[in-house]
Amino acid sequence: MNTITDILATMDYGKAPEDSAIVRDWLKKHEAGFGHFIDGAFTAPGETFDVLSPASNELLGRVTQGTEEDVDTAVKAARAAQPGWAALPGHERAKYLYAIARHVQQHARFLAVLESIDNGKPIRESRDADVPLVARHFYHHAGWAEIMEDELPGTAPHGVCGQIIPWNFPLLMLAWKVAPALAAGNTVVLKPAEYTPLTALAFAEIAAEVGLPKGVLNIVTGDGRTGAAIVAHEGLDKIAFTGSTEVGRRIRRETAGSAKSLTLELGGKSPFVVFADADLDAAVEGVVDAIWFNAGQVCCAGARVLVAESVAKRFEELLEKRMRQLRVGDPLDKNTDMGAIVHPVQLERIRALVAQGVAEGAELVQGSAPEGCFFPPTIAMKVEPASTLATEEIFGPVATVTTFRTPEDAVALANNTRYGLAASIWSENVNLCLDIAAQVMAGVVWINCTNVFDAGAGFGGYRESGFGREGGREGMMAYLTHPKPKARKPEAAPTAPVGQPGEALPGAGARIDRTAKFYIGGKQARPDSGYSYPVQGAGGPVGLAGLGNRKDIRNAVEAAHKAKGWGKATGHSRAQVLYYVAENLSARAGEFAERLTSFGASKSAAQAEVETAIRRTFWYAAQADKFDGAVHQTKSAHVTLAMHEPLGVMGIACPTAQPLLGFVSLVLPAIAMGNAVVTIPSQTHPLAATDLYQVFDTSDLPGGVVNIVAGERDALAKTLAEHDDVAGIWYFGTEAGGRMIEEASAGNLKQSWVEDGAARDWLSRDGQGRGFLHRATQIKNIWVPYGE
Ligand code: NAI
Repeated sequence: MNTITDILATMDYGKAPEDSAIVRDWLKKHEAGFGHFIDGAFTAPGETFDVLSPASNELLGRVTQGTEEDVDTAVKAARAAQPGWAALPGHERAKYLYAIARHVQQHARFLAVLESIDNGKPIRESRDADVPLVARHFYHHAGWAEIMEDELPGTAPHGVCGQIIPWNFPLLMLAWKVAPALAAGNTVVLKPAEYTPLTALAFAEIAAEVGLPKGVLNIVTGDGRTGAAIVAHEGLDKIAFTGSTEVGRRIRRETAGSAKSLTLELGGKSPFVVFADADLDAAVEGVVDAIWFNAGQVCCAGARVLVAESVAKRFEELLEKRMRQLRVGDPLDKNTDMGAIVHPVQLERIRALVAQGVAEGAELVQGSAPEGCFFPPTIAMKVEPASTLATEEIFGPVATVTTFRTPEDAVALANNTRYGLAASIWSENVNLCLDIAAQVMAGVVWINCTNVFDAGAGFGGYRESGFGREGGREGMMAYLTHPKPKARKPEAAPTAPVGQPGEALPGAGARIDRTAKFYIGGKQARPDSGYSYPVQGAGGPVGLAGLGNRKDIRNAVEAAHKAKGWGKATGHSRAQVLYYVAENLSARAGEFAERLTSFGASKSAAQAEVETAIRRTFWYAAQADKFDGAVHQTKSAHVTLAMHEPLGVMGIACPTAQPLLGFVSLVLPAIAMGNAVVTIPSQTHPLAATDLYQVFDTSDLPGGVVNIVAGERDALAKTLAEHDDVAGIWYFGTEAGGRMIEEASAGNLKQSWVEDGAARDWLSRDGQGRGFLHRATQIKNIWVPYGE
């Protein structure tokens, strides 16, 4: 090796390796193999698999492949520990989390070296990014445990959480999941990824060191089969998963109908947008962070660089020059910019995708990389927007570069993806940046920065990047529940509507001889089938409702998409319209009450239902401009804006009982927040809702904001759940229907909210509140740095 004097004389590169002796000693101590960490102690190793260092291919340890029995033992330990853990005062839970944070800091160098050896990431990253953020997460969430009772009243922990994490930020992902779960009073069974289980096992030692009560944290190692056993275990109340969209979708299907709460943090294909007036040197450094940090094995990697045509040539030159300076190699060398790819399987996946991209016409500009499990930093040019490299998550150090002309083009290209995890926007014009930030479909937007994380802000995606947030107040909500109302008697499946051609009710008087039509795009619409079905009252049929089919739902979804302007209107404008709806509903209170009595409701019950519906409409009108986001306390010199955004087009399937109030209680919060809805009213008494179109028409509600299609609830709701252009679905009905909705919504991973239709007393406070507004929105965190 060169001496320092040689190096100074020649200015040659000299290695600066981090000392790994303490990690080697630790690995040696565990030479016999690692067991699981269950009920506060390590089990004896079972059947093991080898864990190798990707950079050197050396054997690091043997780790147990968790079986179904292992998972069961861990869940039982977590279950036994949960009531005691939740019953501790928040202050006591906080003390444990503070202790963990402190011990992580004490062992910081050990953990960073172990992470780099196991995962292949450069020591600079594990030392300066991963491990400090791990400590920060435990500190931050210790604080939540401390103040939860005051700050998050009325909430309760889910119980026992199953957590499955990936290999790209092994210890950090553990912290993102374990810290909020424990702070909230849950206990945990966590499975690290099979390529990188070692820091989780070291963390288990830290948990034991601080005296965390046994059973509160359980770590079971293994591959996807162990993960599947966790997902399938009936003793869990919540599953939190970070990993591929494919596995996330499978988990959505497998947990359908299980009553397990679910959060998914999945893949991405995030845009990195460079406008002509951007500081190009800074933007180039941004790309380095966006796609070569952790060798691009980052779910929010800025993998699609979109650059203004007028500066593209200059930008590409600068980027190529910078890329060629990147040093790829030994993760433990402090000079290394990019380390190893986590595993040969992942390397092969990257190579195959890149080869396919080249076959499709992409041209590569590449840096260099040593032999072994490394891939060179790569820029792919001439990539068509629909090609493999532009659409598939590569999870490697490969960025595509595409040019655009106008801001509208940039937004269209940025949103041309099924994902929606993150976006990075570069321009010296902050007005332009904020305008684009509002338009991109992403849970996290970085302005003139990228890959900035903090425990104080939520992280998570839109669309097929999953749902739920990790970090900040919104992340705490993912580990807490508002205890659900329970039905004394679950909603019975309504009898299937008997369709008949035409619109007249045989033998009925003139009063009820017409069919209530659908309401689509602000107009009355006849059912596509031409069929209608009788609506029963106390003494026989009281009217006919159109019998909707898939085509009607599709038309309604299309109409809802055309009402996008509603979501962009100010809260004040929406409030004005909703106040008007409330006033017009009051003016017709008598008619609505009469309609309800015709269904068999007593006079007083009908009046109470109408009165509550009117007041509720006023309440949501009032909320339209008040359900604010937040400015999070994150890093210095950054404003982190947590904005509430509407989901977009939502499907809503109403309960059968209280047909007016059920409809109003669900539709109003959704539209107050700027969503457009396709609603299936009470299957048995849809006329209470179809009457509302006259109210909407006279209240200046833009066409398409509320669409109503009556008919067989489950069949129509299934079409909505399967529809790729519907972003969220609420279903209040039967248990079987709920399961169907959760399964069917896995396709585009839409957010679903499923409840027993009979559980809520819509007349009480159960039927109204901020919880409904939370469900109708998603949080976008926009990071804006400030200062020179
Ligand atoms: P993966 O999604 O298979 O693995 C993530 C975790 O899920 C691991 O702990 C794994 O053991 C577990 N798992 C696998 N199958 C499971 C199942 N059926 N049920 C429950 N748990 C299961 O990801 P993989 O195969 O390691 O990587 C494949 C691709 O996924 C990558 O190339 C990348 O595109 C993407 N990925 C995305 C991540 C993200 O953070 N968004 C993280 C890791 C991978």
